[in-house]
Amino acid sequence: MSGFDRVITRDRRSRKYGQLKAMFGTEDVLPMWIADMEFTTPEPILNTLREVVSQPVQGYNMEHPQWRQSVCGWYKKRYDISIDEAWLHFVPGVIKTIVLSIMALTEKGDNILTCTPIYDPYPNLVKTSGRNLVQTRLVEKNGIYELDWHDFREKLKTCKMFLFSSPHNPGGIVWDRATLEEINRCCHEADVIVVSDEVHCDLTLPPEQHIPFFTLNASLNSKSIVFTSISKAFNTPAIQGGIALIKNDALRNKFYHFLDNCYLAETNSIQQAAIYSAYTDCDNWIEKLLTYLSANVAYVKQEIEKNCPLISMIYGGASYLVFLNAQKMGLNDEQLMSFFVHNAKLGLSPGIQYGPGGEGHMRLNIACPRSQLAESMKRLKVAYESCGFLLHK
Ligand SMILES: Cc1ncc(COP(=O)(O)O)c(C=O)c1O
Repeated sequence: MSGFDRVITRDRRSRKYGQLKAMFGTEDVLPMWIADMEFTTPEPILNTLREVVSQPVQGYNMEHPQWRQSVCGWYKKRYDISIDEAWLHFVPGVIKTIVLSIMALTEKGDNILTCTPIYDPYPNLVKTSGRNLVQTRLVEKNGIYELDWHDFREKLKTCKMFLFSSPHNPGGIVWDRATLEEINRCCHEADVIVVSDEVHCDLTLPPEQHIPFFTLNASLNSKSIVFTSISKAFNTPAIQGGIALIKNDALRNKFYHFLDNCYLAETNSIQQAAIYSAYTDCDNWIEKLLTYLSANVAYVKQEIEKNCPLISMIYGGASYLVFLNAQKMGLNDEQLMSFFVHNAKLGLSPGIQYGPGGEGHMRLNIACPRSQLAESMKRLKVAYESCGFLLHK
């Protein structure tokens, strides 16, 4: 039995459980929505956090002396990439810092491009900051997404920034080198800044390989900001924080200067200690996690193919989020949500939340013990069968 098989009881302080009624109108669902894992955070990180909070004075602290070094060490051992410590900046959280990058590097009224379907905060961040949202529809092909290149290139010409999710949420897509190089080339040509949100990168399941955006064609010296964090892979979203990585000198100076002058990315000793611990003490843990998640993905795929022929799975090899395409069931979004909540008693994220292209889809979080996953697949099978008359009419 793997440590990941252990069922953990979480209380209502966790949003996954505390917000059930608000999200689904009932608490009688198995919660498989928000992106955190039903696994304990690795013990080395918990020990580090215990040590930090045991200090009798929780005053202003110095920067953790080795957090930058630990990030460099991680990129070297996981991706065989050398990075310069000077490219890094600690940030208060990835979503918070994406909106800061919009504010610092574009003007009110500028166009900002995202793909769709996409992680739902992006469109809101663009609109809230008074910029115009431009979206390019991803094309679903054989269980993964591809860009519509003609549409992408045309829309890019009018934009100042491209908000990119790599690996992609909600499709778990690991973008291949050819796609990334072409995005890089097009954005460079159109003088568009790329914000590459890579928070799911360390959850890339072998044999897939994540390619960090800042490693692309160095001769272009692209204007790109990469965001990463330990929050997804090491299950620490409660302590909020992230890492920005900018290679281009001019862009780095401008953006980090803005962050520093807004006092928005000051040292957070709890988060920095956790970063250090994640990147130096948890190699073994993450290997085991990836093996467990791979088996969970394979299990869900097999069960869905066997039991729910009108549902197909979109999953591109990274993250613990799979996107279920249930369009062939012929239900509208309200009916689909009701089917999952009331018939299957499952709490998934509705695909429509991720924008155009998400209609008729549901996002399933598979980062849970196999017993919970098996229960969810059983519930889905029973509900699907009991609605058979409706589905095939
Ligand atoms: C693509 C993506 N970016 C950012 C976040 C959230 O990052 P943070 O909590 O650091 O704002 C998530 C959380 O699910 C995510 O999926």
